[in-house]
Amino acid sequence: MDLGFAAGQTVVVTGAGSGIGRAIAVLAATAGLRVAAWDIAAAAVADTVAGIEAAGGSAVAVTADVSDPAAVRAALAASGPARYLVNNAGPASSGDLAFARALELTVGSVRLVTQEWLATGPPSGAAVVNVASVAGNHFGTASDWYCAGKAAIAGYTRHLALTRAPAVRANAVAPGLIATPRMAGFAETDLGRAVIGRNPQRRPGAPEEVAGAVLFLLSPLAAYVNGVLLPVDGGWLIAQ
Ligand SMILES: NC(=O)c1ccc[n+]([C@@H]2O[C@H](COP(=O)([O-])OP(=O)(O)OC[C@H]3O[C@@H](n4cnc5c(N)ncnc54)[C@H](O)[C@@H]3O)[C@@H](O)[C@H]2O)c1
Repeated sequence: MDLGFAAGQTVVVTGAGSGIGRAIAVLAATAGLRVAAWDIAAAAVADTVAGIEAAGGSAVAVTADVSDPAAVRAALAASGPARYLVNNAGPASSGDLAFARALELTVGSVRLVTQEWLATGPPSGAAVVNVASVAGNHFGTASDWYCAGKAAIAGYTRHLALTRAPAVRANAVAPGLIATPRMAGFAETDLGRAVIGRNPQRRPGAPEEVAGAVLFLLSPLAAYVNGVLLPVDGGWLIAQ
């Protein structure tokens, strides 16, 4: 799959041990990128890398908590120079977290990883894609910190797009309901059925469908796309 990436470039993907992050890592390798796959769960990210290597791709597994500054610096050193960054890791909205800590995990970690990555001096043509959500950006949900944190990621993305251009492009995706391990069983609940019933596509999205949008925004195909928040929700927003 040729999206125009130069050979041998590295992408850091956080939360690459599961769900959307794993799908992004796999698709990035298919597009010819070397993948530095980060996750707090060592066995999970090792599985992701094993799958990529078995398919002929290039990847390195890095165990790191993206909210820990020392761990993030060590992870960047272990990854090697990276032209591309995908900030995908974040806590599940169902988590019972104190507000300040939750924001630190949700958007503070995105800023931390990005700042440290920028400090490595990524080569020209660099790009970052952040994973936000329709929650907070387009509608409210039960979790106050999740809505606040995901909206903050969109704001931070626009800040980067303005202040770091032209060296770096920054964009974000806002997934709707995506069938990943953390959402297991949700589609069968009353709320899940209601959400899917109002979706023009009548189904949750697949992690690979978010990965496609992320890889496009990261790639040279999107060279003049900067500062957008792209919903990846099957048209759910326009049906509300
Ligand atoms: N699934 C959805 O419906 C949905 C919708 C909108 C946005 N999102 C966002 O997409 C992203 C991925 O979600 P998912 O559904 O694929 O979840 P997931 O639970 O399947 O995967 C998340 C991965 O991130 C890792 N992770 C969590 N905290 C970490 C940390 N501090 N440091 C490093 N790794 C960490 C986990 O170990 C896990 O492997 C999240 O930011 C989530 O908020 C998901």
